[in-house]
Amino acid sequence: MKNLVVLTGAGMSAESGLKTFRDMGGLWEEYDVTEVASPVAWDNNRALVLRFYNERRKQLYEVEPNNGHLGLAMLEKYFKVQIITQNVDDLHERAGSTNILHLHGELKKVRSTFDPLLVYELDGWELKEGDNCEKGSQLRPHIVWFGEAVPAIEEAVPIVQNADLFVIVGTSLNVYPAAGLVDYLSGEVPVYLIDPNPVNASLPNLKLIQEGAGKGVEVLAQLLLENDNKK
Ligand code: APR
Repeated sequence: MKNLVVLTGAGMSAESGLKTFRDMGGLWEEYDVTEVASPVAWDNNRALVLRFYNERRKQLYEVEPNNGHLGLAMLEKYFKVQIITQNVDDLHERAGSTNILHLHGELKKVRSTFDPLLVYELDGWELKEGDNCEKGSQLRPHIVWFGEAVPAIEEAVPIVQNADLFVIVGTSLNVYPAAGLVDYLSGEVPVYLIDPNPVNASLPNLKLIQEGAGKGVEVLAQLLLENDNKK
């Protein structure tokens, strides 16, 4: 089976009802990113940071995977699909995809501020001040904040280098190092970009599918399966 690697961003989950970051009405229009998603914010206004992620987490329990997530999971019948996502939601998992790498952390997980290796599934949606790890230190969202390292990028690079087919869904490709992953593609690899809006990506072998994630993944599946790319 061919290696089909998919890089997803916030637009992947837009049709599930989760806001993107940089579209009109997106989260970074409503919030100042440095005030809710940075180590400085955590030090200066912990209550606001906790509330921001608690709201996101609560909402995540109220939404479902959309046809785009489901379509990518279905493609596992024909390809070895590896999803690399910038999203912190669990909608790819819930749709049934089995190989998912989260670059920017996971909303339903929390970790110790004392030892980053102590990562836990949060029970319910609310993380509070005074919720501690087993060593007695405050728990924080298991999210990569602005200014922090992206450790999962090390794992992502060889996955991209080994791609036979590459798909980009719902990301403005504004945030590095995730946006730089496309530089590791070998020149012959066909790249499909699904986004209803123009995205600044100049890649050889780029095919634009100017649709939302649900319809876009349907079109992608037709193209891939028609071309008998499976073998
Ligand atoms: N289907 C597919 N794509 C969509 C849809 C949709 N229905 N609606 C919007 N989009 C596209 C937008 O056109 C845009 O290109 O999704 C993209 C969303 O871009 P951003 O909001 O910048 O989200 P993303 O690229 O995932 O952001 C990267 O920035 O703040 C951080 O950590 C956060 O992981 C996030 C990172």
